[in-house]
Amino acid sequence: MQAKICRTSPLKQKTDCLILGVFEKDFSTPLLKELDTQLQNTLTKARRAGEFAGKPGETLLLRPLGTLPAARIVLTGLGTRRNCTAGQLRKAAATAIGQLRKSKLRTLSCALSLLDLPNTPLADRIRATAEGLLLAGYRFDRYQTGEDARQETSPETISLLVNTPAEQTLAAREIANTRNLVRGVFLARDLVNEPGNIKSPAFLAEQARSIAEETGMRCEIMGRDTLREEGMGALLGVAQGSAREPFLITLEYQGGGAGEAPVALVGKGVVFDAGGISLKPAEKMDEMKMDMAGAAAVLGTMLTAALLELPINLVGVVPAVENMPSGTAIRPGDILTSLSGQTIEVLNTDAEGRMILADALTYVKRFEPRQVIDLATLTGACIIALGHHATAVLGNDERLIEALRKAGDQSGERLWPLPLWDEYDEQIKSSVADIKNTGGRPAGAITAAAFLGRFTKGMQWAHLDVAGTAWRSAASPDGPAGGTGVGVRLLTDFLRQQSLRS
Ligand code: BES
Ligand code: MN
Ligand code: ZN
Repeated sequence: MQAKICRTSPLKQKTDCLILGVFEKDFSTPLLKELDTQLQNTLTKARRAGEFAGKPGETLLLRPLGTLPAARIVLTGLGTRRNCTAGQLRKAAATAIGQLRKSKLRTLSCALSLLDLPNTPLADRIRATAEGLLLAGYRFDRYQTGEDARQETSPETISLLVNTPAEQTLAAREIANTRNLVRGVFLARDLVNEPGNIKSPAFLAEQARSIAEETGMRCEIMGRDTLREEGMGALLGVAQGSAREPFLITLEYQGGGAGEAPVALVGKGVVFDAGGISLKPAEKMDEMKMDMAGAAAVLGTMLTAALLELPINLVGVVPAVENMPSGTAIRPGDILTSLSGQTIEVLNTDAEGRMILADALTYVKRFEPRQVIDLATLTGACIIALGHHATAVLGNDERLIEALRKAGDQSGERLWPLPLWDEYDEQIKSSVADIKNTGGRPAGAITAAAFLGRFTKGMQWAHLDVAGTAWRSAASPDGPAGGTGVGVRLLTDFLRQQSLRS
């Protein structure tokens, strides 16, 4: 993708396809009038026929057939100018690309970046447009050997049109930033989509190692023996039903001052969640290969932060395990001793995420982080509460939660808060151990967070339950069915804000 100066009308661009944005019911701009005239009122006719009004999600494919230099023009709806945000631009760009999936294009020019939006500066507009165009191009086809599956191609060059050399310089910088962001998102999607037979805890550790190698980060991998010496009984308990060795993965990125406290990111890395002895039903169990989406978000964000050279210190921690039923697995009723010393009564072996996170969150204390954010596909109850349109956020620090919500709105990966009042803690008190690992059906997403809260005392902490947002069961303009890469855009935006402040 490149930035290209457009000195005349975008309609003069010679390209295989030109993408133009259209505001709802606003066809009287000089550009659209010119287009309509050149194409014998095609636009007016399409509007009158109810085929295209410029609403969000609408597109119209035009073939000028020689009357204009562009071989194709895709109009993409933006909604009303007043309500048009960077988020709308991102969606409009992604939707337009979606229209062209089957076309073999060498070149594509996108004029969305030329539009003036009242409250959105050029840098944000460029970023949103580039994000939309790039995110929509994601495919996970490495296991499809047939020709058919690979027929979709993306254009060799995509140009974003801008007005001046100064804008071109700015656009080139923002495109480069966006590429680094998208690399992190695609890494996260790839990791989530990777099947369980390939994706062992060791596989995740290997991925972390190669991120560290590329970016010069520190990487530490602790295997079973070390975890035992450390006393991570909760993590080891979950892992003991699987034939695969568990690992605790730590990445450290130093973009800030040597003595500066890091922001800690902790991601649930259950490479497959069969439920253990409390076995899950067969239906859709395949989707539980996504139970490491929190880990994927942490690894993707660490990669992006390093590529962007964000001036901040970060530590990323991933407990990587597999939750399987077997003769060596933990049983309902077992009691585990966590790294913190607190004992846990295991009432349901399928509530495994909170147990591995308990030890990871205790471990992260030794880095004396200024803030801790954990991401986890933690509860089905979160999907019942919010569906697939928002990540739940809970924690012990309102300012941190507010900052994350702001990043969520800006990045398009929205968060919605759930309360974490003391009363919920009653539900996880055990009569035989310090706590139990389930609080029953009421407020399941909250009692899971309350459980984590037992291990984050003294730290500024927020918990993101991404159970509903990490996986898409149908394609959307943003990408195909499967892993969404949720968390990378959100956290990158958050960390950018944090590094501006410090
Ligand atoms: N990984 C699941 C949660 C989940 C469910 C994520 C569906 C994404 C989609 C988690 O480990 C789990 O099994 N949670 C249980 C907890 C219960 C046993 C207290 C749940 O939500 O049912
Ligand atoms: Mn589970
Ligand atoms: Zn799980």
